[in-house]
Amino acid sequence: MKPRYVSVVLLLITTCCLEAEANLGKKSVNSFPPEALLSTGHYHTTCPDAEAIINQKVTAWFKKDPTLAPAIIPLHFHDCAVRGCDASILLNHTNGERATHESRTLRGFQVIDDIKAEVERKCPKTVSCADILTAAARDATILAGGPFWEVPFGRKDGRISIAREASLVPQGHENITALLHFFQELGLDILDLVSLSGSHTIGRSTCNSFMNRVYNFNGTGKPDPSLNVYYLKMLKRRCKRETDLVHLDAITPRTFDNVYYTNLLRKVGLLSTDQLLYSDSRTGPFVQAFATQPFLFSSQFAASMVKLGNVHVLTRPHEGEIRTNCNYVNPV
Ligand code: HEM
Ligand SMILES: *[C@@H]1O[C@H](CO)[C@@H](O)[C@H](O)[C@H]1NC(C)=O
Ligand SMILES: *[C@@H]1O[C@H](CO)[C@@H](O)[C@H](O)[C@H]1NC(C)=O
Repeated sequence: MKPRYVSVVLLLITTCCLEAEANLGKKSVNSFPPEALLSTGHYHTTCPDAEAIINQKVTAWFKKDPTLAPAIIPLHFHDCAVRGCDASILLNHTNGERATHESRTLRGFQVIDDIKAEVERKCPKTVSCADILTAAARDATILAGGPFWEVPFGRKDGRISIAREASLVPQGHENITALLHFFQELGLDILDLVSLSGSHTIGRSTCNSFMNRVYNFNGTGKPDPSLNVYYLKMLKRRCKRETDLVHLDAITPRTFDNVYYTNLLRKVGLLSTDQLLYSDSRTGPFVQAFATQPFLFSSQFAASMVKLGNVHVLTRPHEGEIRTNCNYVNPV
């Protein structure tokens, strides 16, 4: 994208959202979809340094431990996938989403807590945990070499987090129909499924999430035939215990690039849900396109992340709250 084009797009986005906010006085708030009330300038007057603080903190943690960048991205996905992007995943309740089996591999909560503490010092009771998590996921993507996108702000934090709802989040053994259905419920489409799965170009998985492919695929007692034989041998070597970790992208594990897709063309996808994206006729053409056109992937990924960040956001006046501690709802 040429710089001039970018500024025109930004101008359009800003105009749209400022108008949306200005119109609030006149029209009923309910005539807007909730995400129309988000805007990139939401904290410009109330907390102008919010994005800079988030970026500095994510960068500092990344320098100490680069594995925290890929950790924060699925934290945002799991948040948005259940009850929308409302920081419900961060609530540290014994019966909440965070405490479940499905959430056991999620990490990076301390990064969000650290950001929140600093942001509360600068602008108390102003910036939501849901917004912090959304911007941190963007910054983590950039640190790994991925694209930039403008994050619209103004999400509020929910007060509810229910353990059994976390089991709805895909775990890696689903078929494409089930994944598409899950995404559809969030307002996301086929293209979003294929592009967002591309974040598996960084990060790691526990062996537990794909072990059935290695030893006993669909109860056959044999490995998954859609696994490259050399890759299969490598996975057998790497996985001694269910909790051992393997890179999701075997070729460029720390770089946010389109190699995730070229891997799928060579039967080197780690999760069964990754490899199925290539073999299924509904998603395969998009895998092909992203494998051959890296710019197409990075621009679509950015667009899909904005859509993900808009899922069921709490933006209306009496919805949600600005939590002061991301681990707990505010005391009444
Ligand atoms: C399409 C459905 C998806 C499935 C089935 C899925 C499944 C998984 C699984 C099983 C893991 C490894 C967990 C473990 O350690 O065992 C994982 C890791 C990861 N997922 Fe996904 N995921 C999906 C979508 C997404 C989306 C939409 C994003 C981001 C936008 C994402 C980003 C990541 C990242 C970055 C990691 C690496 C985490 C780390 O290194 O700590 N995933 N995913
Ligand atoms: C979360 O809750 C557990 C158990 O009550 C507690 O030990 C832990 O310190 C809490 N974590 C945070 C960050 O508040
Ligand atoms: C896909 O998974 C869903 C949910 O588990 C199941 O009901 C459906 O039969 C599966 N479809 C195919 C084609 O295997």
